[in-house]
Amino acid sequence: MAAGAALLTTSGPSILIGQNEVRQYFLDREQKISANDHIQIAVIGAGGMGTEDANTALQIPGVKLIAACDLYDGRLELARQRWGKDIFTTRDYREILARPDIDAVIIGTPDHWHKQISVDALNAGKSAYCEKPMVHDVTEGAAVIQAQQKSGKTYQVGSQGLSSLGNEKAKELYESGAIGQLIYAEGFWARNSPVGAWQYAIPPDASKETVDWDRYISNTTKRDFDPLRFFRWRNYRDYGTGVSGDLFVHLFSSLHFVISSIGPNKIMATGGLRYWKDGREVPDVLLGMFDYPETKAHPAFNLSLRVNFVDGTSGSTYLRMVGSEGAMDVTWDDVYLRKNLTSDPMDAFLEEKANEMDKALSERKRMLPPAEAHYTVEKGYKGAHYDHFTNFFNGVRNGKKVVEDASFGFRAAAPALLCNDSFFEEKTVRWDPVNMKRVG
Ligand SMILES: NC(=O)c1ccc[n+]([C@@H]2O[C@H](COP(=O)([O-])OP(=O)(O)OC[C@H]3O[C@@H](n4cnc5c(N)ncnc54)[C@H](O)[C@@H]3O)[C@@H](O)[C@H]2O)c1
Repeated sequence: MAAGAALLTTSGPSILIGQNEVRQYFLDREQKISANDHIQIAVIGAGGMGTEDANTALQIPGVKLIAACDLYDGRLELARQRWGKDIFTTRDYREILARPDIDAVIIGTPDHWHKQISVDALNAGKSAYCEKPMVHDVTEGAAVIQAQQKSGKTYQVGSQGLSSLGNEKAKELYESGAIGQLIYAEGFWARNSPVGAWQYAIPPDASKETVDWDRYISNTTKRDFDPLRFFRWRNYRDYGTGVSGDLFVHLFSSLHFVISSIGPNKIMATGGLRYWKDGREVPDVLLGMFDYPETKAHPAFNLSLRVNFVDGTSGSTYLRMVGSEGAMDVTWDDVYLRKNLTSDPMDAFLEEKANEMDKALSERKRMLPPAEAHYTVEKGYKGAHYDHFTNFFNGVRNGKKVVEDASFGFRAAAPALLCNDSFFEEKTVRWDPVNMKRVG
């Protein structure tokens, strides 16, 4: 069977042009995937993202969905409508894992089920694509890493951005020295709508009959049935991981991929519940600051992240890496590279002195290298999510190592989860990114 080959190509000239002019490059990738091998999958947690994951997985040649598991009957009914009335459906994920005809599972449940289902799936000999964050608490990471190592199966976490053309280009540029020495990075995720702030609709038929509430809470605090806690689980700490577990984790994943980092060793967070006072237990504004120690891959630098669910300028996201020679704004589809060209801003004094000494010479205009380049995806690009599933199935089919495996996924999840610890404990948290342990 042919291995899935992925080669990043850039169309357009490879040099940049004059100052203040932006040159656009189109990013594309040659992909060859064999459709010979038939892979049978199931989705566990067939809600919003589980469904998107399954639909994307089904775009990859040779993939067939044969089963779905969910705790709400309405979602199982929708699964049958979407993927065929003959698919196997159940409320108990162990029935999925017991089936020998399933090669791989997608885990799209709320965060508090990720660890257990991941471990059980790997122990059952299934490959697994688990949504981010990989775990609900930092104490859970080691079990997933061990299960992956023991099983030898493909396990990939669902921060799809790092498989994108945009992130790959940023990595290539960073490694070629395009921004010089990394000094600082920053990112944010901003939203300004009820749905963006997790106020999802509650189905009118939600009840103890249609929802398997006891199973849902079987690994956490016992409580009476509460549809808000089931359908708006992100708002509650027993099930969700706050804005950092939901969104910082994507920024960590992309950053760590681009600069080959294993993560920070110092984490500080503050924030507050400023607006969505609907009974939620987590802040809607969160600011995180992170110290990254020097490693072989990068120098010591600082990172600052922000999520704001009350952003009157409307929602958007960005990730910037700032170096001694320029900066890159990185998304899944674009990279904007900006270089400082005219003079060394730190040396304004020296420049003035030089001007005084040789006015005639300094008045002569110079040739300048390019100030900015914009790399963007070619029309028709299928996107990060498709690429991420391509990478996953290349792992399942031919054992090709995936980037976002259990260790990578945990190293992206941990600093996000530790933001919550820092916020709620009101203290600076220390993390050992090598041994993946909280140390203070
Ligand atoms: N990668 C991304 O861009 C992205 C985007 C959105 C969500 N997510 C992640 O996907 C996961 C699901 O989020 P969502 O927005 O789809 O939530 P959702 O509430 O829409 O779906 C979760 C589904 O899981 C089911 N479920 C709960 N416990 C279960 C269990 N033990 N067994 C089987 N099914 C169970 C629920 O009934 C529900 O249908 C989360 O971890 C979230 O962080 C990732």
